[in-house]
Amino acid sequence: MKVNKNIYTLGICNCETSSACLFINDSLVSAVSEERFSRKKYDRSFPTQSINYILKEYNIKLRRIDNISYSWSKGFQASLKKKYDKRFSYLKKTNVVASKIFSDRYKYDILQDKNYRNEFNQWVKVSLTKKQKKNLKIFYHHEAHAANASLLSSFDKGIVLTADGRGDFEALTVSLFNRNKKYPLKKIYSSTSSDSLGYFYGRITSLLGFKPMAHEGKITGLAAYGNPKKALPLMEKMIKFKNGELTASLGDLYKPFFKGYSKNLTNELKKYSREDIAAAAQQHLENCVCEITKYYLKKLKLKSTNLMLSGGVFANVKVNYHLKSIKFINKVFVQPQMGDGGLCLGAAALHLHGQKIKIKQLDDVYLGPSIRFSNIKKLSKKFPTIKIVKCKLTHDKICEDLKKNKVLGLVRGKMEFGPRALCNRSIIYKTSDKSINNWLNKRMNRTEFMPFAPVIRHETAKLAFEKYTFNDPTFNFMTSTIKCTNVFKRKCPAVTHIDKTTRPQVVYKKKDLFLWTLLKKWEKQSGEMSLVNTSFNAHEEPIICNEKEAVNALIRGMIDVLYIEEFRITVSKPPLIYRKIKMLSKKTSQLSTKEIKSVCLLKDTHWKYGLNSQLTWFKKNVKSLDIHNMLLINKKLVGYTLLRIRKIKSDITRNYFLFDTLIIKKELRKTKLSNSLMSLNKDIILKNKKIAFLTCKKQLIKYYKKYGWSKLNNKQIKIIDGKRNMYGMFFNYKKSYIKGFFSLRLHASK
Ligand SMILES: [Fe+2]
Repeated sequence: MKVNKNIYTLGICNCETSSACLFINDSLVSAVSEERFSRKKYDRSFPTQSINYILKEYNIKLRRIDNISYSWSKGFQASLKKKYDKRFSYLKKTNVVASKIFSDRYKYDILQDKNYRNEFNQWVKVSLTKKQKKNLKIFYHHEAHAANASLLSSFDKGIVLTADGRGDFEALTVSLFNRNKKYPLKKIYSSTSSDSLGYFYGRITSLLGFKPMAHEGKITGLAAYGNPKKALPLMEKMIKFKNGELTASLGDLYKPFFKGYSKNLTNELKKYSREDIAAAAQQHLENCVCEITKYYLKKLKLKSTNLMLSGGVFANVKVNYHLKSIKFINKVFVQPQMGDGGLCLGAAALHLHGQKIKIKQLDDVYLGPSIRFSNIKKLSKKFPTIKIVKCKLTHDKICEDLKKNKVLGLVRGKMEFGPRALCNRSIIYKTSDKSINNWLNKRMNRTEFMPFAPVIRHETAKLAFEKYTFNDPTFNFMTSTIKCTNVFKRKCPAVTHIDKTTRPQVVYKKKDLFLWTLLKKWEKQSGEMSLVNTSFNAHEEPIICNEKEAVNALIRGMIDVLYIEEFRITVSKPPLIYRKIKMLSKKTSQLSTKEIKSVCLLKDTHWKYGLNSQLTWFKKNVKSLDIHNMLLINKKLVGYTLLRIRKIKSDITRNYFLFDTLIIKKELRKTKLSNSLMSLNKDIILKNKKIAFLTCKKQLIKYYKKYGWSKLNNKQIKIIDGKRNMYGMFFNYKKSYIKGFFSLRLHASK
């Protein structure tokens, strides 16, 4: 008798947000990103823990996997050669500076991708069988983006757009998709990595003081507060779409990198407010992407088609909103993991399509680890201050807590794959409190300009939003905004943006009965139309994965009550009123005498030299430009770090930050408050574009590594004015900042 054997396909990608996924036959059954295990946001290391989790969860050995699929660093496509040659020879003739930038981008791509590919090759070498190596398939970066948007959609035909910073020498592609063809994607257009909308928007993000490839959403939110018209002509000078080509003006105003700004660009931008800059950048991005889509719809004579989107640019919910309203576009599907973490999905799907297996559409993204009941019961042993109660009527209890203005952590089922939390690892709250955008963001140490997003029942969505349509996939995964009705705006101000839009998650009874019932009860009891749904994570941390991380958040005061499945968890001894947490960063010259005294008193709780001695040291050693980062609870100083400006001598002499002190009030040391302080330090160091250095004991190296600090070779550094008997660590060290051997001055020069 013939036994039907399952086909196991493992997809892997190792780049920004390294991830792995598993298909069993035609269905995606598991997908997870390394960051959720390593707890390093956007972790780029090889997804070993993700692969191990998947294999363990499905109880299969790696050697049993039939197909291994990988995407990224496949190399330079022969079809791109003509385009690159043409562009390069034109630039060489017309603009030497631009041709240098163009070739630098190309060389940098080769260099960077080599490392990722080597890492994968090494894994293949040591982990796979001969048969598996034969059946290994590698796909191009944008090919995998296009595949994860199209093959996992519900559509059989349509147009596919991919856009990001860059990948495998492309930054934007347009393809025609036909599921019934042997190779389903026919590429119509692609732009070079130098002509990149991702770099354009990322540079603006960075110039406004945020982290590119991470904080672009803040710019989208900020944009609603500005006037796009003022700085739009400047944006148009940077990159534009004309005659079917996306072309950047490589030079003074635009470079296909996130850093390295010309004085000219920074001076130009100084003329505008940051709101106006954000608004212009957003408007320009929307214009470019919409123009490209319209152009190719016309060129391909498509009168009615579906649109599929993938790549970091489509994390921009406003761009997606505008694309949806283009004439001739029917439905839009945005791959929920539109970033590079989703490349593993595209690679595996293409591999299977090549084997004539029709991929099932992606219905949800609950593809990660779930919480084991046995682990919930063990929690009280590990965390003696918590109280766990099994609810009889969980929905009623949740509504009761919401009515009492409690911030709730909701953890149930499998963890979501991708950047959005869809109420399996979410924080929920009532939507009638407009002030939430101030205090809850502060409580989670976040800076956001976009309001919180709502989760809403499909039935209510009809009344809440303008032109709402049934089963719009962008609302299943929170990948697009929509205009709110006046009644929604009035009832749910906490989740309505200044431009009267919102980014909803719509819930259907058939798909999620628990959530649907909760929302229905909440509507009935409160009169509100939705609940706030924000991801369950603190600033710069990945979304929580397991029950311990959720309880830690409860103990730290990020939430008031935690629901894990039907268990209600509270802290029996509430820690402190964390709502009154405040982070401050001041130069010495801005500190009041009272603040200096508080700093010295806090330091003296650990280094017990007495207050007078602390004050004398402060006066003698701390200089006016040194930066003091402070954490206050109820206006009392409970945490402190000091960044002292000192000098490095290398090929040139330049300033660096000496990370001098890290202290948290003794009784708060186990609350992980230092996370917040370390994040603040990180932001300040990056914002000032300085290298930071610290010395520490061996046992603390691991701790600082967690925050991105790295240990440098001792032979490379010499301390000019002191002995270093401890280990030296650097943050934000870049070879371009200082070359080769260098010396450090620990004390301030006279
Ligand atoms: Fe990408």
